[in-house]
Amino acid sequence: MIKRIDHIAIVVEDIDTALSFWRDTLGLELSHVEEVPDQQSLVAFLPTGVSEVELVKPITNDSGIARYLQKKGPGVHHICFEVDNIDETLSTLKMKNVRLINETPIFGTAGKKIAFIHPQSTHGVLVELYELTPIEPQIRMQRAVSLADKVLSGSQVMGAATIAFLKALKNNGDEKNIVKKN
Ligand code: CO
Repeated sequence: MIKRIDHIAIVVEDIDTALSFWRDTLGLELSHVEEVPDQQSLVAFLPTGVSEVELVKPITNDSGIARYLQKKGPGVHHICFEVDNIDETLSTLKMKNVRLINETPIFGTAGKKIAFIHPQSTHGVLVELYELTPIEPQIRMQRAVSLADKVLSGSQVMGAATIAFLKALKNNGDEKNIVKKN
């Protein structure tokens, strides 16, 4: 069963530049930043009620996200729906001959248990399915802290807005910045 739209992902060339619109001009709040090793990307979350805007920036040149950016430029990348049971949803879709990118769930951005549906079956939109699991907040925290360590030690270059967020995270040592409130 579909519960709600969890997030809309937007591919950007630079997180800080994108934040100058999404956060500073539009007024959304930055709630979390992390590096996603599997997807070779950097992501930032800006909650809007029960859903979030997710900014995604590729950090290598040969990931799926990087190729998307090279080919199509910045813009909406995918829509993610929260479901109550992802395994059940995937097997139902398989029975209905829907083309799945992930036949079994993977752990994506922010430790989320997710799977993608191929745009061929969805009228041109990359659709992500997501199920909330108990370990998600831990994975989310670990990734933010490890990014903060890299950035603060100088081994990764990052814009001022992102650095300020990560510094605050390390200083507070506090999970309230990164655990979703909803
Ligand atoms: Co997503």
